[in-house]
Amino acid sequence: MPNNPKAVKVGIVGATGMVGRELIESLEKRRFPVSELKPFSSGRARAAVRFRGRSVPAPGVDASSLAECDVVFLVSSDEVALEHGRRLAASGVWVLDDSSAFRLDPKVPLVIPEVNADALRPDRRLIAGPNCTMTGLGVGGALLHREIGVREVRVSSYQAVSGAGKAALGELFAQTSSLARTGLSADGRAPVLEEGSGSELPRAIAFNAIPQIGSFGPDGSSSEEVKVAAELRKIWSAPRLRISATTVRVPSIRGHALSAWLTLARPTTAARARALLAKTPGLVLAAEGDYPTPRSAGGKDPVFAGRVRQGATAREIALWLVSDNLLKGAALNSVQTAEVLLKRGWLKPR
Ligand SMILES: NC(=O)c1ccc[n+]([C@@H]2O[C@H](COP(=O)([O-])OP(=O)(O)OC[C@H]3O[C@@H](n4cnc5c(N)ncnc54)[C@H](OP(=O)(O)O)[C@@H]3O)[C@@H](O)[C@H]2O)c1
Repeated sequence: MPNNPKAVKVGIVGATGMVGRELIESLEKRRFPVSELKPFSSGRARAAVRFRGRSVPAPGVDASSLAECDVVFLVSSDEVALEHGRRLAASGVWVLDDSSAFRLDPKVPLVIPEVNADALRPDRRLIAGPNCTMTGLGVGGALLHREIGVREVRVSSYQAVSGAGKAALGELFAQTSSLARTGLSADGRAPVLEEGSGSELPRAIAFNAIPQIGSFGPDGSSSEEVKVAAELRKIWSAPRLRISATTVRVPSIRGHALSAWLTLARPTTAARARALLAKTPGLVLAAEGDYPTPRSAGGKDPVFAGRVRQGATAREIALWLVSDNLLKGAALNSVQTAEVLLKRGWLKPR
């Protein structure tokens, strides 16, 4: 887009990763005005990405080249974000970080544009995107929270392996293919698999479900469960919200699913909840009797909801949410945030 006077120089650190590749596709699909793309990788291997039909080299990070960008997407790791994020933002570059390095810093806006674009400020150039598990709930419950008030959330997740990066996904495929011939035993019994181990995940993931994402803290909660709670409180500006979460890795490829029970401020029928969900920005509500799955939501932009019903009390609503962790959970959300910055005239060629 060389002739567009509003087109900006875009840097991507982690361009060769799961999120980085989706980010490049989202920029293209949404016709984000890019005058120049500077992709970076770990530099461990000679790498390139495809952008607008061309192969663009993705070398190791070059800090001076990054500083020439108007906006930089950090989609690599907490360590890499900590190394570059603040310095780049202080030098005037807009920085959109998808790691967890800055999410809970009170000076860093943590943003889902449909929910809290008002947290963006022209002088806060370092912006965090939320944890991919939280995003579905952050979007899905936003209007219920605004219109009625959510007092308590109980949630269990069913998280795809791509949420742990490309090495973990490679491990899922390798383990699955080595077990692919396992069928019913000769006598028709279901096979008993050994627990097995993995190098990227705490247990073997093929044909399994692992109730550990991250490390466990002193109270027995995993770091992922702590993140979901703290980030949801920040995004909804609801410091007193009570949240119980159990986060689980399952052998789906992309698309995090959530089973959630929301306790509202007052009695609410399932019909009223459905009416609010149908109007929630960024959310697609399935027809009654239908529901989304990781496979139906994979590769799609919105958060999908279904199975909306009354919970155990008149104030409780149960629902099922699914969103693509790589898209709305990371890459797409950051591109949408950058679009808001462009629209407000804050992000422009320097
Ligand atoms: N996956 C998700 O669903 C998801 C959702 C929300 C947020 N996030 C966050 O997004 C980030 C990226 O996740 P991912 O799943 O895309 O991981 P990934 O598939 O493992 O990719 C990691 C990327 O970082 C690059 N990298 C590794 N070490 C580097 C270094 N020292 N300097 C510069 N680049 C380096 C890798 O380059 P090589 O190709 O050279 O190895 C690769 O491009 C993480 O912070 C993650 O927490 C991920």
